Amino acid sequence: MLIKVCNISDLEDQKPKKFSINSIEVLAVKIKNKVFVIDAYCPHKGGNMEYGDVDGYKIKCHLHGYEYSLENGKLVYNPYGKSSGWYFSPNLKVYKVEIKGEEIFIEV
Ligand code: FES
Repeated sequence: MLIKVCNISDLEDQKPKKFSINSIEVLAVKIKNKVFVIDAYCPHKGGNMEYGDVDGYKIKCHLHGYEYSLENGKLVYNPYGKSSGWYFSPNLKVYKVEIKGEEIFIEV
C-alpha cells in the first residue's frame, strides 16, 4: 500500500524532516533530485534521527555517531569498532519511495 509522506517542496536539500503518517514516524531527506524516507529513530538506541547530520548519502546519529546509508540502511560506520552487546545495531529501515509529480509516497 502506498501512503503519502509530503510534497517535494516541503523538503530542503540535505535537511531531514519528520512526518507522522498513520502511526509511523519517518524522516524524509532530499538530496539533489533523490528523496529518501527512513525510520525517524536510530536502530541503535533510538536516537532522534531528525537531529542527525546528512553527509553524502549517509546520515549520522547525533547520540553515538553511528552512520547509516540512506540508500539501503546499512550501518556504514561505528565509532566504537565493536558490534556485540550494547554496541550492536541493526540496519536502519529505509522505505521504498515513489514520486508522482510533486508528491512523495512510501510503500508500507
Ligand atoms: S542511538 Fe543512534 S548511534 Fe546510538
